[in-house]
Amino acid sequence: MNTTKLLEAARDAAQKAYAPYSEYKVGAALLCADGDVFAGCNVENVSYGLTNCAERTAIFAAIAAGRRCDFVALAIVADGESMPYPCGACRQVLSEFCCDEFSVYIAKADALDDYEVASLGELLPRSFHIAE
Ligand code: THU
Repeated sequence: MNTTKLLEAARDAAQKAYAPYSEYKVGAALLCADGDVFAGCNVENVSYGLTNCAERTAIFAAIAAGRRCDFVALAIVADGESMPYPCGACRQVLSEFCCDEFSVYIAKADALDDYEVASLGELLPRSFHIAE
């Protein structure tokens, strides 16, 4: 699975977003080490705080399918003028399952080739952990 295909999977997932309130559709595609991909979209609710972001939908789908910590990369795609950087809550949830070297690819839906890439360590430095 190359980067373009992962970004395309995220763009496809954004089409499935349920976003009647913000009208901001986000898609995410999570790549596992064996090449499997779990997609997610944002799912809004009339009680706005219950909204689930696309990134967390994707990672929760993978966890619910029994996957654990074999995640390689995540692509995030959305329409709009600005790059769809992941929110703080999604960064924290990613850090539960992904190492600092995990790659996050970010692009606007109409310009997949102009993607940005960052490691999770860059997106969430000095993250919260409990020493074991
Ligand atoms: N959203 C995401 O899906 N991912 C993020 O990282 C930030 C925000 C969604 C939530 C909501 O449905 C819409 O974007 C506007 O905030």
